Amino acid sequence: MSENTFDSLLQEDRTFAPPAEFAARALVSDPDVYARAEADPEAYWAGWARELHWSKPWDQVLEWNPPQARWFLGGKLNAAYNCLDRHLDGPRRTKTALLWEGEPGDRRAFTYEELHAEVSRAASALRSLGIGKGDRVAIYLPMIPEAAIAMLACARIGAAHSVVFGGFSAESLRDRINDADARLLITADGGYRRGGIVPLKRAADEALTEEGGCPSIEKVLVIQRHVDGAPVGGAVMTEGRDLWWHEVVDAASADCPAEEMDSEDLLYILYTSGTTGKPKGIMHTTGGYLTQAYATTKWVFDLKEDDVYWCTADVGWVTGHSYLVYGPLANGATVLMYEGAPDAPDRGRFWKLIQDYRVTILYTAPTAIRAFMKWGAEWLRKYDLSSLRLLGSVGEPINPEAWMWYHEHVGGGRCPIVDTWWQTETGAIMITPLPGVTETVPGSATTPFPGIRADILSLHGEHIPAGGGFLAIRRPWPSMLRGIWGDPVRFQETYWSKWQGETVGSGDDTQPGEGVYFPGDGAKRDERGYFWVIGRIDDVLNVAGHRIGTMEVESALVDHPAVAEAAVVGKAHELKGQAVAAFVTLKEGLEPTEELKREISDHVVRKIGAIARPDTILYTADLPKTRSGKIMRRLLKDIAEGRTLGDTTTLADPSVVAQLKDDYEAKG
Ligand code: WT7
Repeated sequence: MSENTFDSLLQEDRTFAPPAEFAARALVSDPDVYARAEADPEAYWAGWARELHWSKPWDQVLEWNPPQARWFLGGKLNAAYNCLDRHLDGPRRTKTALLWEGEPGDRRAFTYEELHAEVSRAASALRSLGIGKGDRVAIYLPMIPEAAIAMLACARIGAAHSVVFGGFSAESLRDRINDADARLLITADGGYRRGGIVPLKRAADEALTEEGGCPSIEKVLVIQRHVDGAPVGGAVMTEGRDLWWHEVVDAASADCPAEEMDSEDLLYILYTSGTTGKPKGIMHTTGGYLTQAYATTKWVFDLKEDDVYWCTADVGWVTGHSYLVYGPLANGATVLMYEGAPDAPDRGRFWKLIQDYRVTILYTAPTAIRAFMKWGAEWLRKYDLSSLRLLGSVGEPINPEAWMWYHEHVGGGRCPIVDTWWQTETGAIMITPLPGVTETVPGSATTPFPGIRADILSLHGEHIPAGGGFLAIRRPWPSMLRGIWGDPVRFQETYWSKWQGETVGSGDDTQPGEGVYFPGDGAKRDERGYFWVIGRIDDVLNVAGHRIGTMEVESALVDHPAVAEAAVVGKAHELKGQAVAAFVTLKEGLEPTEELKREISDHVVRKIGAIARPDTILYTADLPKTRSGKIMRRLLKDIAEGRTLGDTTTLADPSVVAQLKDDYEAKG
């Protein structure tokens, strides 16, 4: 989103108080929760943690040696036990835990008792394969119940999962498996997407066999995806390495005691893009993560016993971890999971799902909302959406037009919207309205969740009471990342060095900069004190709510034999928020054809996955660089978005930029 659009956002004066009827029944309707949390944040978080089941209570709530935090020290618990076993004593035993619909229309449902049995069998099977506490398991699956089951089975036996989004390429999968030294891979023959089959097992085979493969992988568990009783098929099983899930898991015992885990034991690793070409393995541990995932799910979504909660995120992203699996199941909720695309078989699919399952809470992304807007409200009018009572948004800033459309057409004007800001690294929601308390403004994530200390700071750490600056988190929070797998230096440098050596804050509210977290986002604060998160200020793109590093795409581009040099920037895009715009210099003597562009673009998809496919590729004889040789991405962005050029005086060759801009405009 450009600065100009952003300034007009701040003039947004439509406000929406919680509807009286909603507030009257809300779990939280008293704004005093904020002051109570502020009075003693550790006691407040300990209060939340006590709502979980601990086999041994903690001795200390927090130990904070920046940048290393440890929460609920000495406490023992198991995340899967908290999501399943703990609900089996009362009426939740027979309550629906998971409702699932495949893209072709096949349906499955699990009560808590049934899900517990499935997870226990899967956990026994993993144990029989020699997997246990301290191991890593890679999960590469479509959106089928087994994705959640596999995650919880790992958690049950104390193995950390590393879920790799099914849209990532074989090579991305291989890199992630190798970085984490995963011993086991869980995948499926295929999944459905827009009528076609995504051949995951084939990609997995490629990951495991080509270019050095994955030496740490011992076994591959393969789930057979069925439709109408017939397997999707297509999986070629490798003798001695590959095992069918249904053969191993169905035969396994449903009696599998949960491993007692330390609060700070690793629960999972999830890879996300940063400013270098190599994705970061974000580490989340057990007690603190589960506490905040649980707390935020309950309060932000005002979760009640009879809700049907639908989070549309894929389990391959953090939203799928915290708000499809751990948060809602820890709350004993009924969760809907859908496998496929929103326009399969037609553009009414989401609304049909809401009608069929009587969904009460919907959590989705601005990019989806913008697509729905484009498709038109007539698709919604064919269905009964009256069951909905609360809407959520996540992944990128939501533009006020999309917010209003969501409010009017999906929410029927009666549902509060919670625009939730957080990241893979924060593990759980950080800035958000509380639907029974907060007056919302379209486009603003409003205020920090109770107990979270967010701020907007200048480059030197001064508190900015109103206006723009760097988003900062000034106090440790339970679900914070504990590190980057295998790279403590990068952890420190990426998140904790922005204000190192500075004094952060103002007046009598200051602190050393060492303990202040930098999320990589720019933000502004309005007169109400509300936060408006503008977007990344680093070389990270947000394409359709997915994080992609410019360097990752650049490495994929220069990996093509025809490419000498490449630069990638994010370009404002009507639906996706940002799109990948690539500038490419070909090797000497090569013909800059349209066909070669397609080839280069396909190469990026092969290297990373379809989410990284460049929207535009522009050939250029040279890239604009500073005299010290750094590519001037800001200028390229100006060109890609058709703006007048900024200052080019520090450029090695200003004519390069003028030429590029002309070329870009000629392309349209
Ligand atoms: C980045 C994190 C949070 C789970 C999904 C994405 C952007 C996320 C919002 C929001 C403005 C947002 C930020 C953030 N972002 N939610 N409500 N308003 N920006 O997780 O892939 O780790 O990406 O997404 O730029 O840093 P992620």
